[in-house]
Amino acid sequence: MNIDVFTLFPDWFHWFRGQRHVRNALALGHRLETVDLRATTPLSAGQVDDTPYGGGAGMVIRVDVVEAALAARWGEDAVAGRGRRRVIALAPGGRQLDEALVQELAAEEELALLCGRYEGFDERVHDQLATDVVSIGPYVLAGGELAAMVVCDAVLRKLPGALGHVDSALEESFSAALGGAPEYPHYTRPASWRGHEVPEILRSGDHGRVREWRAEQSRRRLR
Ligand code: ADE
Repeated sequence: MNIDVFTLFPDWFHWFRGQRHVRNALALGHRLETVDLRATTPLSAGQVDDTPYGGGAGMVIRVDVVEAALAARWGEDAVAGRGRRRVIALAPGGRQLDEALVQELAAEEELALLCGRYEGFDERVHDQLATDVVSIGPYVLAGGELAAMVVCDAVLRKLPGALGHVDSALEESFSAALGGAPEYPHYTRPASWRGHEVPEILRSGDHGRVREWRAEQSRRRLR
């Protein structure tokens, strides 16, 4: 998978790229690269935003700035280019990210993630340059960078080999193996801590009963 993150703050992603499951994914041949929206701006002095029509506080990232960055990256017209890949604008008002959307995105060959700042993007970025507008939750962040990292984190760990343990992604919260339910509780040593005991079933060695108990716990968390 190839992921390009379009941002005004490419440095933010240096740390993220160094995290283990991201490094694993990169070592497997996947790509995660940042594109600085300021580098290709057609405006002078690195300008990328402008005041909103109609008045009001804050600045809005210009559609021609995003267009130039996409066109330079893809080597083709940005409107034509969105027909060939998933282009996701991160914004608080978008479709909320959930496991189904993560699965969908993990199946893509290529993703472009557009990180807004200030008051966000000119609406024509959402309408004409993006294929999707995605939110990571009903709250407002200072920009789309952390949201893009959340998307990358959730998507990259789905790629075969990115996690150390193959099983960890199979039977996890919201997976098909658990019927879309949250995952069952986990315990490890010590068996007793401040009078709080690990459920006896988990220490019984009876794999059938453990499986049934976990499935039931998982179902209960749905309610
Ligand atoms: N940008 C600002 N807030 C956001 C959110 N909640 N989700 C995605 N992008 C954002």
